[in-house]
Amino acid sequence: MTTTPLSPASALLRPVTAGALQAPNRIWMAPLTRNRANPDGTPNALQAEHYAQRAGAGVIITEGSQPSAVGQGYPNTPGLHTDGQQEGWQRIAEAVHSGGGRIVVQLMHAGRISHSSVNGGRTPVAPSAVRPAGEVFTATGPQPFPEPRELRTDELAEVVAEFASAARRAVAAGLDGVELHAANGYLLHQFLADGVNRRTDAYGGSPQNRARFVVEVAAAVSAAIGADRVGIRISPLNPFNDITEDDASVYEVLTTQLAELGLAYLHVLAEPGDPIIGKLRAIWPSTLVLNTGFGAESDRDQLDRLIADGVADAVSVGRQFIANPDLVRRWTLGAELNEPDPAGFYGGGAQGYTDYSALS
Ligand SMILES: Cc1cc2nc3c(=O)[nH]c(=O)nc-3n(C[C@H](O)[C@H](O)[C@H](O)COP(=O)(O)O)c2cc1C
Repeated sequence: MTTTPLSPASALLRPVTAGALQAPNRIWMAPLTRNRANPDGTPNALQAEHYAQRAGAGVIITEGSQPSAVGQGYPNTPGLHTDGQQEGWQRIAEAVHSGGGRIVVQLMHAGRISHSSVNGGRTPVAPSAVRPAGEVFTATGPQPFPEPRELRTDELAEVVAEFASAARRAVAAGLDGVELHAANGYLLHQFLADGVNRRTDAYGGSPQNRARFVVEVAAAVSAAIGADRVGIRISPLNPFNDITEDDASVYEVLTTQLAELGLAYLHVLAEPGDPIIGKLRAIWPSTLVLNTGFGAESDRDQLDRLIADGVADAVSVGRQFIANPDLVRRWTLGAELNEPDPAGFYGGGAQGYTDYSALS
């Protein structure tokens, strides 16, 4: 546990620009699914309170939020495809902005990591009809994953348009931008991964082909709201959600193509020391945000060094932001930290969500 104050010259405390985002510090809040939206995906006052409490983050990246009904992967995750959901996000944007913060919404289409009981009775869709191993978390408990339906080539433009439409709604709601979730085994990652994408059309096979769908989504979302409001998250070779991929070259192909779009930032989830970080850093022309992964909780001094050494421009922190609404202040002062309680991570009410204390 860190107990010394950060030096005022600390890399973590320097402002950073990411496209249109002007962050006063480099300690960003990582996207965290908390399953507390209304059953119809409308974000509510409890979520507004939660995010407003964390307005001190350099940037808040919200929990993954579905751009379409079929894209919902878990109960009570927020959406961004109806007017009511957009209004809910507007209240969150207002609450965070009145607390002096910045907030982008993570657009997450779960793809095959879904079940008819959470997505309104639909068959989940995926690049290929490959059933994930394991069980899906539903309102009535864990259930086996169903086999997803392979998206037809002529349907892909529609899915791209749903992302663009959700991004337009995000900006209309007053949010500062969007992050495309191309990590952790959800739809966009499923297209990238050679073990899950078995397509024989222009969207499967070579790294160029597997990157194509993600690039098309990023291009359409950029055209809709401006590339300087769009970030993207990737987790190269992360096996989460039964992803299998042997070929990391797709990430070099992907980032080379995304670099031409002028996106606000690239958000990489990888263990520190993973050589992929340096490779992507060399390709990526703008802000790189690093999350050091699930292995160990983010460590303040390690993150400070990673930025000071130029490995990344900013970092995102997950579990410690769950437990410490004023994490930036606590890290700055070297104050004691609250411990996150996993029992309250996924679902429930205020307990374990908005009741973690801030320093007085
Ligand atoms: C409760 C919980 C929910 C998460 N939800 C998301 C999510 O919606 N989208 C995402 O990209 N990552 C998600 N993650 C991963 C975090 O963003 C982050 O990468 C991970 O917690 C490791 O960072 P940490 O050590 O700082 O917690 C989640 C993690 C946790 C613990």
